[in-house]
This record gives sequence, structure tokens and C-alpha cells, in this order.
Amino acid sequence: MRIALAGAGRIGARHAAALAALPEVEAVLVADADPRRARDLAARVRGARAVDSVEKLFTAGADGLVVTAATDAHAGLVGRSVAAGMPVFCEKPLASTLDGTFQTVAAARAAGVPVQVGFQRRFDAGYLVARDAVASGRLGWLHTVRSCSFDPAPPPAGYIPTSGGLFRDCVIHDLDSIRFVTGREVARVMAMGANKGDEIFQESGDVDTGTALVTLDDGTLCTASATRYNAAGYDVRLEVFGSKDSVVAGLDDQTPISPIPERAHSAGHAAEAYSGFLERFAAAYDAELRAFTDLVAGRRSNPCPPEEALEACYLAEACELSRREGRVVEIEEVRR
Ligand SMILES: NC(=O)c1ccc[n+]([C@@H]2O[C@H](COP(=O)([O-])OP(=O)(O)OC[C@H]3O[C@@H](n4cnc5c(N)ncnc54)[C@H](O)[C@@H]3O)[C@@H](O)[C@H]2O)c1
Repeated sequence: MRIALAGAGRIGARHAAALAALPEVEAVLVADADPRRARDLAARVRGARAVDSVEKLFTAGADGLVVTAATDAHAGLVGRSVAAGMPVFCEKPLASTLDGTFQTVAAARAAGVPVQVGFQRRFDAGYLVARDAVASGRLGWLHTVRSCSFDPAPPPAGYIPTSGGLFRDCVIHDLDSIRFVTGREVARVMAMGANKGDEIFQESGDVDTGTALVTLDDGTLCTASATRYNAAGYDVRLEVFGSKDSVVAGLDDQTPISPIPERAHSAGHAAEAYSGFLERFAAAYDAELRAFTDLVAGRRSNPCPPEEALEACYLAEACELSRREGRVVEIEEVRR
């Protein structure tokens, strides 16, 4: 099959290489708003070919489109693809606003064309085991769930003003994972943010660190925390505590935390800490793209349909509103 890819940046380069390595993908056609970036990427990835405009991706005879462009281009590209009947994999978020997400979901549904959203934690081995542990009843009833997304350093300054803010850009992964692993809906959130790092965050109306207290519809209490300043390394974990047992996804030799006092068998980290999402979620990214090619080939159902992205978007929106207004927000307040 031939896969088109729009957006030759950080995640686009990674996805292009993973797609090109799949035996059934005969070509990856790459375009970017900046054609030079597409050409540079195609020169580095065997099996990738640059197309000189994004426009041409829609007439190049591709079987599916992978959207890895900047967030504000997602809704437009997904809308065009479903109108053309071409299945799409879209990096999160599906759109840069709640209205845009809502309209994109409606367009995908009306067209009946599959849209898979890139919440890669759904493909991480640890998150899948945690989900099974909850579903099997092995943990008993849940009392606490704690999720964190700690980046070692902020993204380039230019990324911040168009990112949608920490809760929509980053905590959205934690919110989706909490729903995915517990199998429950969120009733309400209370979120707070802090700015102790670079001024760019405050200038963009954003925060560099934030935590949401998330209450599920059965009363379970969860926290979702994120920061752009965890210099020890990239730390993404989900801890699930129940009345009978507890499990944690994302705790291994490379997790950048040190027990105190140090255990006899582990003096600090046994291995170099995770440097970032590209390293930590390499296997999950590969798995979600394999799932996308299976979806394009009609061999599997959609593992992350746009309706799931819309739910995560409602939760992130509620967190952002809660942070700005300093109050508890019921999810029903933001739901359309
Ligand atoms: N799931 C994840 O873990 C994860 C990780 C990183 C980024 N992302 C998402 O992936 C997207 C890209 O992030 P990134 O870090 O690669 O950004 P980036 O800035 O490195 O790359 C974005 C690229 O998109 C191009 N672009 C902008 N508008 C375009 C358009 N209309 N058509 C085609 N190309 C266009 C830019 O020129 C740039 O090359 C973001 O939406 C981000 O939220 C997801």
C-alpha cells in the first residue's frame, strides 16, 4: 500500500521511518508546508518520497493519510481526507479547538471513513496490562489512580503559543489513559497550574506545570500531572491502586526516579533515563501504525476512533476552564 504523510517535523520523521519499514508499505509520500523539510526527510528515509505540495497528497493515489503536521492543520487535513474517502491516522489532538474536534468527528462519521487518533499509550504494554488488571477485578475496587507526564525540557518556544496549552497538549494523554485503563467516564475535574520556568508559558496564557484532580463516575479519585521541566528525564507513568492490589505502568530501569534510601540492588538508575517520548514510546508508536495499516487494509476495527478523542478533548477543555476560573468543572458543562 501507499501511505501519504503530511508534516515532516519531529513525530513525522519518526512515523515516516516506521511506516517505510513495514513490508506491506511500498511507498511513503511525504509533504510539508515547507517543501524543503519534506525533501530532507525523504532523503533520510529509505522508501519515502517527497511530494512538492500537501495538495498533491490527495491526488497521488495513496491508500491512507498520516497527519503529523502542526496541530492547527489537523482538522483541515482530516476533513479533506475523509471527504476524499481516504482513511486517516491523525496525531493527537484531532483539532486545535473543541468546536473543531466536534466538527471533525461529525465529518468523519458522515463520511463513514475511518479516522484513528494517535493516543499511543493505548498500545503500550504496561498500560495494556494495567487495563486487563482492572477489567479482571484482580485489583478489587479502585481507590486512587495517578497519572503523570513529565517532560525533561520544554519543546521549542515556537511550539508553545499554538499548542493549545499544557492540558490540551500534554495532560490530554493522561486523561485518555485514565478512561482507557479504568473503563470509566469522568464526572468532574479541578485543575491548577504553575509557572516557575520560562516566561513564554505565561506570555502565551499557558502554564509549565499542572495537576488535575479527576473524579470518575463511580467516585474513584485520580490525579493527572504534567510538567515541562523534569530534568531527571522523561517520566510517564500510570499507577492504579485498588482494594486488593496495585499496578504501575511505566516503571522500569529507565524511569527517572531514585528510591531513598537506595535499595541494595539498585544504586540509582540501572540504565540511562528515558530522554523523551520518541524513546519511551517507540514500540507503542510502531504498534499504532501497524494497527493503522491493518485498518486501511480492512483487517481490524479502529483502536482509537475520533469519538474517543472528542471525550479526551472534553476533559482537557474542562481542566483548562477549571484552571482559569479556579473552580470544579462538571464535564457536562463543556459537553456538546
Ligand atoms: N502522540 C505523541 O506522543 C506526540 C508527540 C509529539 C507530537 N505530537 C503531535 O504531532 C504534531 C506535530 O508535532 P511535532 O512535534 O512533530 O511538531 P514539529 O513542529 O516538529 O513539526 C510540525 C511540521 O508540520 C509542518 N506543517 C505545518 N502546517 C502544515 C500543513 N498545513 N501541512 C503540512 N505540514 C505542515 C511544519 O512545517 C513542521 O515541519 C502535533 O500536533 C503534536 O501534538 C504527538
